[in-house]
Amino acid sequence: MHINGDFVRAADGRTFETFDPSTGERITEVAHAGAEDVESAVRAARLALDGPWGALPAVERGRLLGRLADLVEANAAELAELESRDGGKPISATTSMDVPGAVAQFRYFSGWPTKLEGRTIPVAMPDTLCYTRPEPVGVVAQILPWNFPLLMTSWKLGAALAAGCAVVLKPAEQTPLTALRLAELVVDAGFPPGAVNVLTGAGETGALLVDHPGVDKIAFTGSTAVGREIGAKAGAQLKRVTLELGGKSPNIILADADLDAAIAGSYQGIYGNTGQACYAASRLFVHRSRFDEVVSGLVERASNAVVGPALDPATEHGPLISAQQYERVRSYIVDGVASGATLHGDVPPADPSGFFVRPTLFTDVKPDMRIAREEIFGPVLVATPFDDLSEAVSHANDTEYGLAAGVWTRDVGHAHTLASRLQAGVVYLNSWASGDPAAPFGGIKSSGVGREMGQEGVESYLESKTVWTSLASQCLHTS
Ligand code: NAI
Ligand code: MG
Repeated sequence: MHINGDFVRAADGRTFETFDPSTGERITEVAHAGAEDVESAVRAARLALDGPWGALPAVERGRLLGRLADLVEANAAELAELESRDGGKPISATTSMDVPGAVAQFRYFSGWPTKLEGRTIPVAMPDTLCYTRPEPVGVVAQILPWNFPLLMTSWKLGAALAAGCAVVLKPAEQTPLTALRLAELVVDAGFPPGAVNVLTGAGETGALLVDHPGVDKIAFTGSTAVGREIGAKAGAQLKRVTLELGGKSPNIILADADLDAAIAGSYQGIYGNTGQACYAASRLFVHRSRFDEVVSGLVERASNAVVGPALDPATEHGPLISAQQYERVRSYIVDGVASGATLHGDVPPADPSGFFVRPTLFTDVKPDMRIAREEIFGPVLVATPFDDLSEAVSHANDTEYGLAAGVWTRDVGHAHTLASRLQAGVVYLNSWASGDPAAPFGGIKSSGVGREMGQEGVESYLESKTVWTSLASQCLHTS
């Protein structure tokens, strides 16, 4: 792990293994942080905040973030390979999306420090100056999942560092490697020791961080179950918290849609990253007049999909992250068949030679089936026809989640009316999963609390302090 600018072992010597999901082979052993390491990392972060990092002028914070962007860019090929090996993400995706996306995040956030301004407040009291100062929240714990390790690290870290916070980051136990390499680049960029610490370990390490009294804010991305637990603890301790959790996002295709674009976009929306995305377009609603055409378009693409090892440049869909996720996704497919839905595609074998699952689609789905209600986090789509728009909207909103929603139509009136009626933090019109560091992202309902990226993202790492000053006006009256 990486504490106070150096690689260190766990105080108790504990380690865990990280695997290549494409082969099942062990890549290496990584330190497993325990209570003593959490203590050291939080102390290092606090000292950096009270010392050189906290004292750095805004323009210097921006310069360091800019250098970090340049260093990630200069090491792009290595980071892409590391990300593909550790997380099973296709090399074509890590090369074209994850790593350039991380560069863009750091570059975007490098512009923020010099734009964080307070306000002068026109208070009623005479001879009084009242103003606000934006200040960093303090020491923040960032806890990450395995599906977009480097990209998510960059937007969490970028926003926190732009705001001037010191960070203890815990990557997922399945994908610790790019965060560790990034920690070295953070040092090379010139950040003072302790500004960024990377603690590798499992959920128990995350829980220790959440409970540590020296942590002022928790930023978590992962399962809704763990998010609820962290939210409850943060509430009890009155720590700041942002949560980016699961989804079961509706994607609605209207009768007038450009079907080629809608099919291509909907395909990517659910099967991209092998369905392992919080924003996955996992519930498809299609106007009955176009339903068969859309389903057969998706099934045809799915049957030609190139599913394979992450480092093969031809691979479109890599493996699932682990045996556990394979079993979980497989059990949903088995359950869907048992509950009477029609499966287009194959039931993955019970005794597989790898964690590969081909894209699958269910029709004849009832709204109360588990496959229609629960986040599967794999390449499994449920498709349902609709006759009128209000029916589509009420089905779309009939979920505990509210992360993303999509609409495919040529009618701008329908598009924007649906954008306002769909319960989601993000709405995609004639697109899916568009993203930019400047555009806020996050969910409502059980999909989370708060927004990341953009102005909202930076503000979630700031506190506003109000300063009252009584002015010595006497001098003006007497002189
Ligand atoms: P998880 O929520 O258990 O893990 C995410 C991160 O939280 C990891 O870094 C983990 O070490 C940490 N963590 C686990 N328990 C913790 C605790 N009690 N306190 C603090 N930190 C803790 O997710 P997991 O087990 O990897 O995946 C299970 C399911 O969660 C997936 O099948 C999927 O449905 C969902 N998920 C959703 C994600 C999203 O982007 N919305 C990302 C990852 C998983
Ligand atoms: Mg791994």
